[in-house]
Amino acid sequence: MALVWEQFAWRLAWMIELRGSLVTLRVLERDDCRQLWAAYEPATPQPTEPLHVGLSVEGADTWFAEMQADQEKGRLHLGIFTLDGRLVGDIQLSSIDWHNRTAELGVGIALASDRGHGYGREATRLLLGYAFDHLDLARVGASVLEYNNAAVRGLEHNGFVAEGRDRAAVFIDGQRHDRLRFGLLRQEYGALRDTPA
Ligand SMILES: CC(C)(COP(=O)(O)OP(=O)(O)OC[C@H]1O[C@@H](n2cnc3c(N)ncnc32)[C@H](O)[C@@H]1OP(=O)(O)O)[C@@H](O)C(=O)NCCC(=O)NCCS
Repeated sequence: MALVWEQFAWRLAWMIELRGSLVTLRVLERDDCRQLWAAYEPATPQPTEPLHVGLSVEGADTWFAEMQADQEKGRLHLGIFTLDGRLVGDIQLSSIDWHNRTAELGVGIALASDRGHGYGREATRLLLGYAFDHLDLARVGASVLEYNNAAVRGLEHNGFVAEGRDRAAVFIDGQRHDRLRFGLLRQEYGALRDTPA
């Protein structure tokens, strides 16, 4: 019965609105995807494994269509909006596994000028609350490139534990880099639940 409810809750993603002190998370519409797609400014060095963004409106529409299809298959993808409604990024739980009760976290803030203001950190905390308290997941994992200090700090701030390193697993701009693995268990999140993000 519990499993049925959690899957039902996940299918009500279009109704989700998670509000913090800086940002609100809610579903992305087609125009939101176009806006994010056009706005995304890659950090240097490249902060993530390739995202293939920014090429055309059709690319954004394909992203939107894939997102809709994926929402049915085990992904919860939400926009990050400031409290006055400005779209600043996106965040997702992907590879949701209902049997093992696990998922993977990904987050991005589109404009460089919007990074470093606490949006990613609070968005992560809000989505973790939904993952553990409403979807009843047991574990959320995340992978980051070894040199992405902002992403590592954001995970550590939210209680993630470093679990491993895939050595030389990623090839970017002619060089190989390690991919770091992080994980957060429900009981570890419990200690953070009532603290500010
Ligand atoms: C990584 C990212 C999501 C973080 O979100 P953000 O809103 O910029 O980060 P926040 O302001 O919430 O800060 C999170 C932590 O990172 C630290 N931080 C922020 N920018 C940093 C930087 N350039 N270098 C080092 N640390 C940084 C903050 O001090 C904070 O640490 P604290 O909690 O100890 O104070 C965002 O910078 C981003 O989208 N970058 C490009 C895409 C990307 O890297 N995505 C993640 C892929 S796994």
